[in-house]
Amino acid sequence: MKLLVIGSGGREHAIAWKLAQSAKVTQVYVAPGNGGTAHEPKVQNLALSDQVALADFAIQEGIRFTVVGPEAPLAAGIVDYFQSRKLAIFGPSREAAQLESSKDFAKQFMTRFGIPTADYQSFTDPDLAHRYVEEQGAPIVIKADGLAAGKGVVVAQSLQDAHQAIDWMLKDQSFGQAGARVVIEACLQGEEASFIAMVDGEHVLALASSQDHKRLGDADTGPNTGGMGAYSPAPVVTPDIHAFVMREVMNKAVKGMAAEGRRYVGFLYAGLMIDPTKTVKVLEFNCRLGDPETQPLMARLRSDLVDLIEAALAGKLDHIEAQWDRRHAVGVVLAAQGYPQAPRVGDPIGGLQNKGAAGCLGQASSLADPASLDRLVFHAGTEERDGALLSSGGRVLCAVGMGDSIKLAQQHAYESMAQIHLDGGQYRKDIAWRARRNHGTSS
Ligand code: AMP
Ligand code: GLY
Repeated sequence: MKLLVIGSGGREHAIAWKLAQSAKVTQVYVAPGNGGTAHEPKVQNLALSDQVALADFAIQEGIRFTVVGPEAPLAAGIVDYFQSRKLAIFGPSREAAQLESSKDFAKQFMTRFGIPTADYQSFTDPDLAHRYVEEQGAPIVIKADGLAAGKGVVVAQSLQDAHQAIDWMLKDQSFGQAGARVVIEACLQGEEASFIAMVDGEHVLALASSQDHKRLGDADTGPNTGGMGAYSPAPVVTPDIHAFVMREVMNKAVKGMAAEGRRYVGFLYAGLMIDPTKTVKVLEFNCRLGDPETQPLMARLRSDLVDLIEAALAGKLDHIEAQWDRRHAVGVVLAAQGYPQAPRVGDPIGGLQNKGAAGCLGQASSLADPASLDRLVFHAGTEERDGALLSSGGRVLCAVGMGDSIKLAQQHAYESMAQIHLDGGQYRKDIAWRARRNHGTSS
């Protein structure tokens, strides 16, 4: 069968790589893809972005189903459009994607269905917003309502920062329409985790737990980014917390969406804050897989992703289980110089023996038995020009290491990093530190 993946990041490289491993798959097209997907066996890039052209292509090629990576096409209604043309596509409709595309919608929805989240209020009037933060005090969190490519959240440590963020969003309209409304919520303390599931409208199949590292610098310092690394499993998600999140977050969300006529189908990602007393609250919903969480998750997924998605599209996720490699996976992101403010592009990337996911020394082919792989390199901001691999975005690639311990998985990821060269490239040296320090899994 032939499949189509929409997107160009590390997440989409990992999804395409995983789909291509299926014996049922002859070809995976990635639109538009990147320099890594261009070299993956059984994977081909497609220079199309317009949804009409993509649907025409899917019909012409007999694409079995399409998987959407990023939130923007989902919020723009690509699922509704593909369905109107009788094409199978895995992702939420535009209405259902509001769980991510409007933070105000998500907060109201969580309140309606008793899903645990921070107290909040929404504002369009800057004077009322300023008054509210004066009453509440700092620290406090200011969020643009709409999609802002991960940049629309300010965790204000002082009232001055909070006032500035309100003016920035509501008065200066730095995010345009996305910031015409702000959600102001209580600042939560604790450890974050990513809880990602597949949803078929009714049933929820949880994927393995993972944790992202949002800050640019070691020890979680510096500016927020799209994510500098991730690992799976995340020991902070204990079996009790897993059961709680399934019951109080995922099932409530899926039932609530269906009850309100917005059946949710697709990946559903709850960003969680878990405090020291193990109280769990939802920071946000995303209507997609996380990036970079997907890279370690796909490295660990032993089940055929085609089977899981077909079960989801048939409404039968209650009939299937996902098998996971018991090894740990650690993914370290290599970012360009100047990321996240002003990433430099066009730098040559050296040290990769193979331009697909089997990028590093010692890997025969990325289609080899996954159980024998312990190093993968998923590309994000890369492109090939005149035979040379060049950086083309802020997050350039993600090296994933697998190992029986977190330490070994880390070691494999960092050994790959040491081989790869990018002028001015930056990466964190401590991905998975929480798992090693807090949870005694340092062996
Ligand atoms: P979001 O896009 O809503 O996930 O926010 C991005 C990041 O901001 C989160 O991953 C957290 O690190 C931080 N954040 C968001 N909301 C809160 C909150 N209520 N309290 C503390 N930190 C938050
Ligand atoms: N890694 C965080 C996200 O994908 O939103």
